[in-house]
Amino acid sequence: MALFTVPVVAGAVLVATVVWIVTRLRSADAAVPGPAFSLFSSLPLKFHEFCGNRTRYVHSLHLRYGSVVRLAPGEVAFASLPALKEIYMSNGSGYDKTAFYHLFRQYSTPTMFSTLDKQTHSKRRRILADRYANSNVVKAEALDGIRERASRFAAVAKTSQTLDIYIALHSYAFDGVTHHLFHPFGSNALQDEADERIMREVSFDNSLARRLLEYYYPSGLPGKVADLLGLLPPARSIPRAKQIVLDAVDATLLNASDEKTAGGPRAADFTLLARLQDPALGLTRMQMAAECMDHMAAGIETTGDVLCWLMWQISLPAFQGVQDRLFAELQANRDPSKYDSLPYLNAVLKEGLRMFPSIPMSLPRHVPEGGRVIDGTWLPGGTIVSCQPYTMHRFDQDVFPRPDEFEPDRWLDTTPEQDAEMNRRFFAFSNGGRGCLGKHLAMAEMKLLLRDVYMQFQTVLTDEAKAADMSMADQIISARPKDQTCKLKFIPRGKTEAA
Ligand code: HEM
Ligand SMILES: *[C@@H]1O[C@H](CO)[C@@H](O)[C@H](O)[C@H]1NC(C)=O
Ligand SMILES: *[C@@H]1O[C@H](CO)[C@@H](O)[C@H](O)[C@H]1NC(C)=O
Ligand SMILES: *[C@@H]1O[C@H](CO)[C@@H](O)[C@H](O)[C@H]1NC(C)=O
Repeated sequence: MALFTVPVVAGAVLVATVVWIVTRLRSADAAVPGPAFSLFSSLPLKFHEFCGNRTRYVHSLHLRYGSVVRLAPGEVAFASLPALKEIYMSNGSGYDKTAFYHLFRQYSTPTMFSTLDKQTHSKRRRILADRYANSNVVKAEALDGIRERASRFAAVAKTSQTLDIYIALHSYAFDGVTHHLFHPFGSNALQDEADERIMREVSFDNSLARRLLEYYYPSGLPGKVADLLGLLPPARSIPRAKQIVLDAVDATLLNASDEKTAGGPRAADFTLLARLQDPALGLTRMQMAAECMDHMAAGIETTGDVLCWLMWQISLPAFQGVQDRLFAELQANRDPSKYDSLPYLNAVLKEGLRMFPSIPMSLPRHVPEGGRVIDGTWLPGGTIVSCQPYTMHRFDQDVFPRPDEFEPDRWLDTTPEQDAEMNRRFFAFSNGGRGCLGKHLAMAEMKLLLRDVYMQFQTVLTDEAKAADMSMADQIISARPKDQTCKLKFIPRGKTEAA
């Protein structure tokens, strides 16, 4: 019996293998350029993901195979403008998100960002969008809070002279976003150690591998095995961050509904929380908290990391001239209301976002049922497709010559046509109906911070900063400077000048 079954089983396995190989070879992705192994296995891609190296790996495949490349069975990446438009902008918000985004649920509750389908998403987005419209961001009460925090940053720099900007900028971003989410219950991490600890909880999270396992193996077995073997860092644990959000929600909810405390502090009119509490929306306490938590996390890492990389870049000896030009422009335009209309400041920030998009990697979407032709390549429904900001900002060297060089002037010494070509590929905030909602807030925060710093200081790297590894360490969707530290020396301008 046993002698009979071994060949039968072996034969069955062989037949199944052959069928599988033939199916793969005849699949639509077989026609897509890419490494041969990626037709059969996603392991090389996963390996790079677990190493925090997905962005660079995907970029290297584009450089080798061109603007369309197969990453894994059923997963294809694009680096062209027609593909970007089709995947992210067709019909307004492009293709639906993949289950990857379930990793972004907060308090186990779905949020706008983690919603996969168009309909549910656009309903929520319509409710929240005006909170982040530029007209709301620049309202005096909203913007003054950001200004105040930018001056606080400069004041701290003045006193300490040497500042770890990785920490200070994440504190600044945390304070800025919580102001917009639930003023007067915003944080003060720049001055208050307890609040700084909340920021650290979020920013020093190391749960990448654990969360990837959760996504790839929802059954949990490989995760449990890896855990038993002690291979995994601790799970994402952000109790303080969760608490500050719940506290703000609860305080304002109670004061809004309870007669006795009706005169007490409420979320200011311009805030996200004020909108979420509109009784007409019928949101639960946890839905409000989840949405706030998501925007809080979205606002800390992204803004903090871009600013950190950018200030590091222009603190390098070869880029001190960039600071001098910023200083001259800011001196000539001291009126604070002008922060948004300064061409050089704008070019420097844009170049920072181009070189160091803090969400640099693939934003995965599903090809809709029935399949689609994307930039000339037909793919069946369900295929995972994406573009990544890091590559969109570098791949087409006619549009971005010397793509790895930091050159703010590329945004100034240019023709209107070239400028339009660059802007169409500018993908740091994604694009279309699922693009960054907080873009105007983020731009205001970053411009005000750079204004306050470079109007007053020259920044140079300390020896520690020279030794720090600033290369990209990918997280779940964002990336951060690998060593998570960058100590700069802040030299007051007046001293060098007046002396
Ligand atoms: C430099 C700073 C920022 C960058 C580079 C950035 C980038 C992005 C990108 C690329 C996306 C799309 C992600 C995807 O499709 O997977 C996104 C979405 C989003 N961002 Fe930002 N972001 C920044 C700051 C902020 C801030 C300050 C907020 C404040 C609340 C924010 C709130 C959001 C929200 C709510 C979404 C989801 C939009 C939706 O699902 O419709 N972001 N951001
Ligand atoms: C990341 O990927 C790039 C491109 O494939 C490769 O050259 C580099 O060695 C990788 N880095 C790490 C740390 O694995
Ligand atoms: C966009 O909508 C049209 C009409 O409703 C539909 O035919 C088309 O397939 C949709 N495209 C995508 C990418 O969903
Ligand atoms: C409500 O308002 C009072 C002041 O009137 C304030 O002390 C309190 O912190 C607020 N929150 C709650 C939950 O009562």
